Amino acid sequence: MGEALVVYESVFGDSETIARAVAAGLSAHLATDVASAADAPTGVGPDVRLLVVGGPTHAFGMPKPATREGAVKQYGAQVENTGSGLHEWLDAARVPAGTGAAAFDTRMDHPKLVTKLNHAAKSEEKLLKGLGLTLVSPAEHFFVVDPKGPLADGEEERARQWGRALAEIVTAGTRR
Ligand SMILES: Cc1cc2nc3c(=O)[nH]c(=O)nc-3n(C[C@H](O)[C@H](O)[C@H](O)COP(=O)(O)O)c2cc1C
Repeated sequence: MGEALVVYESVFGDSETIARAVAAGLSAHLATDVASAADAPTGVGPDVRLLVVGGPTHAFGMPKPATREGAVKQYGAQVENTGSGLHEWLDAARVPAGTGAAAFDTRMDHPKLVTKLNHAAKSEEKLLKGLGLTLVSPAEHFFVVDPKGPLADGEEERARQWGRALAEIVTAGTRR
């Protein structure tokens, strides 16, 4: 396992694109693995200095079985297992207490006030803290222009820069 791990859930591929861009940014300073919640190991070893998690906003929060089913019915999404995703991975994960962590989500661009009330990353951060992890940076939000994507212009590059900044926070003082 590398020094950073990015675990994502993605119905239409946008959160996966962001996860891979964050991983590319992290790779500037940390050996980084990226995996979907379906594939990621739930046992995270002590070599991992930073765990980044992220996925889409569904119904004001993280995807749940009912919202994944909604994505299939309403938008014709293909979801292999609507019973499992990032929330379920975080419920099962075992990570050494004190490991660094950060959360992101993807969502539609709402006016500021609604955005404050409405985001998956808030729940992701709660679950990360519940695991005893240390948030190294506030959550970041990336925007899609339509529920089925694509991402808004520039979001992939912004994700790469955020990943690089996270790696710099984690390695500050230890880089040669
Ligand atoms: C069932 C469902 C509920 C959604 N609810 C919200 C929402 O409450 N707020 C929001 O900003 N976007 C909402 N969206 C749009 C998603 O955020 C968008 O589909 C997602 O960011 C795309 O990421 P993905 O390609 O990784 O699935 C919803 C989408 C679906 C399918």
